[in-house]
Amino acid sequence: MSKLVVTGGQPLEGTVTVSGAKNAVLPIIAASLLTREPVQLDDVPELVDVNLMGEVIQALGAKVERSGSQLKIHVAEIANIEAPHDLVSQMRASIVIMGPLLAREGRVRISHPGGCAIGSRPINWHLKGLEALGADVRMDHGFLDVRGTLRGARIYLDFPSVGATENIMMAAVLAKGTTTLENAAQEPEIVDLANFLNEMGAKVRGAGTSIIRIDGVQELSGTSHTIIPDRIEAGSYILMAAATGGDVLVQNVISDHLNPMLAKMEEAGIPFREEDDGIRIFSEGHYRAVDIKTQVHPGFPTDLQAPFMALLSKGHGMGMVTETVFENRFMHVDELKRMGADIKIEGRVAIVQGVSKLTGAPVTAADLRAGAALILAALSAEGTSEISGVQHIDRGYEHIEEKITRIGGVIRRED
Ligand code: UD1
Repeated sequence: MSKLVVTGGQPLEGTVTVSGAKNAVLPIIAASLLTREPVQLDDVPELVDVNLMGEVIQALGAKVERSGSQLKIHVAEIANIEAPHDLVSQMRASIVIMGPLLAREGRVRISHPGGCAIGSRPINWHLKGLEALGADVRMDHGFLDVRGTLRGARIYLDFPSVGATENIMMAAVLAKGTTTLENAAQEPEIVDLANFLNEMGAKVRGAGTSIIRIDGVQELSGTSHTIIPDRIEAGSYILMAAATGGDVLVQNVISDHLNPMLAKMEEAGIPFREEDDGIRIFSEGHYRAVDIKTQVHPGFPTDLQAPFMALLSKGHGMGMVTETVFENRFMHVDELKRMGADIKIEGRVAIVQGVSKLTGAPVTAADLRAGAALILAALSAEGTSEISGVQHIDRGYEHIEEKITRIGGVIRRED
């Protein structure tokens, strides 16, 4: 098993370029199943999850070709409506193939994705939405068997789930009639998916607001599309620069997508400015503690909760971190405590009392964003840390050790 060996204490300096967004490209790869014409995607990050999604659609009949950051996908025929269990079990996000397969073929079989480290993560709202569009959902030997001819419907989501919004949008684009999705997720990745679908000839309006209207069309055509920058990767590097007292220009960002985090940085007294080609952080490494509460977009993103908590562990004073989106997303706390952080958990709230220094330690990343938090802590700690669980980090951070090395961080991978 690989680990990352990080020696802290070096302020990060230089320029880092953000890759295309993992959470935007995954549903867009799935949406390529909606057309028999070729699709070209640019700024596609090289990540384990992206490769897995490519393998899932290949198993369904897609031809997938990568050259550099470009992905060409062609699904002339759907050869198979069953997603292989071994792939789906490795990546929960593969459930977003349900909507497009159902829309194109009228049937999909997929093993129930089950839970993961950050909670039980049910998919009831995905299924409720597909049922409202006319699908019949059955459980059969651990597989979900979903079939039906779809027609537009009015759907109210009990919670603005990102995945459910995506699955329902992709199912509805080829349904007969109009679908109105209320209390929809408003994340930038939803807007990127809607733009991609519209470029294919779909009629999706209102993405980025809580009400999305979709007029079904008969068929969709091929297109080429550039994936939006990854706001979570950008946020992670911004916070690493802030924690190490660095001077870093983070390029390829859409700063509006980062507003909730930037507002909290301002409150904490961390200097940054928006420049023509990115966001520049010029931190002395001193900042005040602030409270954060994760919420759906445009609230503070749950995916930046762990890195922000790692930052707070060295802030001045006490900050409260409230996690409202996932039920079990504090796995990084015990690891941060091994590095000297002072954090107490009370239910969904973590109380972080800033300490003057963190010290390097062997730690384990239990999930992707916990991994980013531990790298941040290790970069700002005294001494050397060994971070295990790198397979989680590789799911969502492209070339992480190269990028951090280029801005002066001391990090290497050991197999
Ligand atoms: C997506 C992102 C993930 C991010 C999350 C919240 C991808 C690939 N992943 O995950 O990085 O952390 O949005 O911004 O885009 N829930 C249910 N029933 C459902 C669906 C969801 O109870 O049918 C619950 C989940 O367990 C969770 C909450 O709703 O507690 C939010 O989940 P959701 O917005 O669906 O997140 P994902 O799409 O899984």
